[in-house]
Amino acid sequence: MKFPIHIERTEVSHLHEVDFNQLQFGKWYSDHMFVAEWRHGRWVDCHIIPFGNLPFSPASSALHYGQIIFEGMKAFRGPDGTPLLFRPEMNRLRFNLSAERMGMPTVPEALWHDALNELIWLDRRWIPQQEGASLYVRPFMFATDRFIGIRPTEFFKFIIITSPAGLYYSRPVKVLTMEHYVRAFPGGVGYAKAAGNYGATMLPLREALQQGYDQVLWLDGIERRYVQEIGTMNVFFVIDETVLTPELDGTILEGVTRDSLITLLKDKGIRVEERKIDINELIQAGREGRLQDAFGTGTAASVVAISEIRHRQNTVQLPPVEERSWWKQLKAELDGIKYGTRPDPYGWRVPVQSKLVAAVLN
Ligand SMILES: Cc1ncc(COP(=O)(O)O)c(C=O)c1O
Repeated sequence: MKFPIHIERTEVSHLHEVDFNQLQFGKWYSDHMFVAEWRHGRWVDCHIIPFGNLPFSPASSALHYGQIIFEGMKAFRGPDGTPLLFRPEMNRLRFNLSAERMGMPTVPEALWHDALNELIWLDRRWIPQQEGASLYVRPFMFATDRFIGIRPTEFFKFIIITSPAGLYYSRPVKVLTMEHYVRAFPGGVGYAKAAGNYGATMLPLREALQQGYDQVLWLDGIERRYVQEIGTMNVFFVIDETVLTPELDGTILEGVTRDSLITLLKDKGIRVEERKIDINELIQAGREGRLQDAFGTGTAASVVAISEIRHRQNTVQLPPVEERSWWKQLKAELDGIKYGTRPDPYGWRVPVQSKLVAAVLN
């Protein structure tokens, strides 16, 4: 192994404490986690250790200046029990894009691959069997320099934790625009999975929830007119049999689910337009009965139908979800590829393979 991993196995597994029929997103964490350190320009001290609290200095620069990035991916249990990942290389590339934007070191392919595979293999019994459930995998990195001054940092931790998770949304979502808040603007960090992007949305999200909505539908930061994305999802609309989604302009996250759906749609010969989408165009199409479907896409939620869009005083009600085939078909196809119940002509499904854990511990 290029990055030798030392494994310390837990003495007490918590697996039996989990009620796999009542999984909530982010409530349980599996027995182990992966931790590596960036010191003197190299990734060193790679460990898989029992999940637990971490010691670090209260002067760590991540705590003060938010130099933190993360990824979100899932491991699925295939029909024969094999743990499966979905396009894990896409997450590595995006993690490294985020790292570069935030002035952090990148993670080489070998480190990413071995850390993910060995950790998931070791905790493979934590991958739920229940329909629609999976093991959520959260790689993240933060600066650990013990220094309260703003300067480029030199010390980082790269960690992966995993969490058995059920469906993120069990019903369609209602979204509203908020013109007095902005999530991202050109030249900013909207395309990065930087922690601050999410921290800054907590207040708007709370206000949205108070108004009876599930998420904010973000508008662009300049004209407050063009749709960007929803909370932790990219967004798609179907108007006159054409599928529309905001273009990748540096302000939205380049979703793995987004890319996968565009590929599926184009391969069916369906017209997909990646472009600026004016919120007024959506309202108008809704009024004229031409807005056939709207849905959010993301690793956590897969594909989730939108039932209502509100912008200022305008409310657009989408047709009842049972009458909409677009989101449902796409979700079934994508989930089928992920769970190994449908053919995967794209090679997106990657079986988890272990050299170390399989050879040494099992
Ligand atoms: C802001 C944001 N947009 C979109 C997505 C969807 O991306 P993906 O499909 O890769 O999960 C996510 C989730 O990662 C997100 O956090």
